[in-house]
Amino acid sequence: MDVIPILRGKRILLGVSGSIAAYKAAELASLLTQAGAHVDAVLTAAAARFVTPLTFQSLTGRPAHADLWSADAHVPHVGLAEGADLLLVAPATADVLAKLAHGLADDLLTVTALAARCPLLVAPAMDAGMFEHPAVQANLATLRARGAAVIGPAEGRMASGLAGRGRMLEPEEILGHVRRAAGRNGPLAGRRIVVTAGGTQEPIDPVRVVANRSSGKQGFAVAQAALDRGAEVTLVAAPCALSTPVGARRIDVGTAEEMARAVLEASAGADALLMAAAVADFRPARPAARKLKKDAGPPVLELKRTADILSAVAEARAKNGRPACVVGFAAETDDLVPNARRKLQEKCLSLVVANDVTRKHSGFGSDSNRVTLIDAAGAEELPLLSKADVAERILDRVQALLSPA
Ligand code: CTP
Repeated sequence: MDVIPILRGKRILLGVSGSIAAYKAAELASLLTQAGAHVDAVLTAAAARFVTPLTFQSLTGRPAHADLWSADAHVPHVGLAEGADLLLVAPATADVLAKLAHGLADDLLTVTALAARCPLLVAPAMDAGMFEHPAVQANLATLRARGAAVIGPAEGRMASGLAGRGRMLEPEEILGHVRRAAGRNGPLAGRRIVVTAGGTQEPIDPVRVVANRSSGKQGFAVAQAALDRGAEVTLVAAPCALSTPVGARRIDVGTAEEMARAVLEASAGADALLMAAAVADFRPARPAARKLKKDAGPPVLELKRTADILSAVAEARAKNGRPACVVGFAAETDDLVPNARRKLQEKCLSLVVANDVTRKHSGFGSDSNRVTLIDAAGAEELPLLSKADVAERILDRVQALLSPA
């Protein structure tokens, strides 16, 4: 995993309490460390029966703590709490939630929690029956009222064999919440950003479509990068197999026409629109109502132009000035810069992100991309980067366009 800029150098206190989900906290510690955070794990005595401090120490490269009375540090809880950017308790048992809600402090985790002044994020894990108990719900309400964020639990199968709401969120999802918490007051806080992603699908008949090779990865990375900077993100997604970045409002669409409707509505009040989706330029003129059978011979498909979404946005923008910033994407096989420049002008764009889809390790489906950023001032050719890094570079430009120096 790449370093995540918003988490680079952040000090995260990871409180682990005694639930079987503690084994997943090890994965979480690893993800956060790979993302560039400094993770200090603090285990309760019950947690240390499921996993050991050594597990966390090995994954984070930093001492992990379990004992309030250890002689290694002078007042260890104060040292741990000082300068922490986030206290994340995952898994949070009913017992630890009760202690946090009431200010009890009888072990290193709960004492540290009282000493810490950073935001608190708790990921409950317990049996569904316990989670529903009014005592647990009241404790969660107390924590929320004090500004803590409660994430999950999810529905599903639990270690008891029963199903219900009580599973700790998966580490990847918790990571998404940590990013959201870290980016809360970021440079795009209060900005509304619409991102499109994926490739539209145009029906031929009820089972077949005309599609394209877009994986959606670059658009989803742009949405995530905008969330990391604190923006409110609407993600208009054409069919793709990617999970929604935590915090994004996702609108699923199928065809170019559906995407047009969703984008025009969402972008009317937005500050920026980034059209990373590969929108079909043509669709079957008369999709068959019933499945075409092969016995009838090869069908002849008559195609028809779809409406250009960016042009429609440009029209709306000419009237009310919103969105202030519109970014188009150009996938080209020939004459990259001249073609992108033409799109910049014709579609009244603030910026065009152009990529040559014929180049290796770049474009459709790949995790990396080599793009050129083109605006009225010129063209900046970026090296081969991960799609997450490309997204950061695009967002740097969007940020500058929204808040000129
Ligand atoms: N786009 C759009 N509506 C469409 C087709 C494309 O808004 N019906 C957007 C894409 O999301 C992308 C940009 O337009 O941001 C460029 O798309 P592309 O298909 O490469 O551009 P075209 O103008 O169609 O040019 P050409 O067919 O010559 O490549």
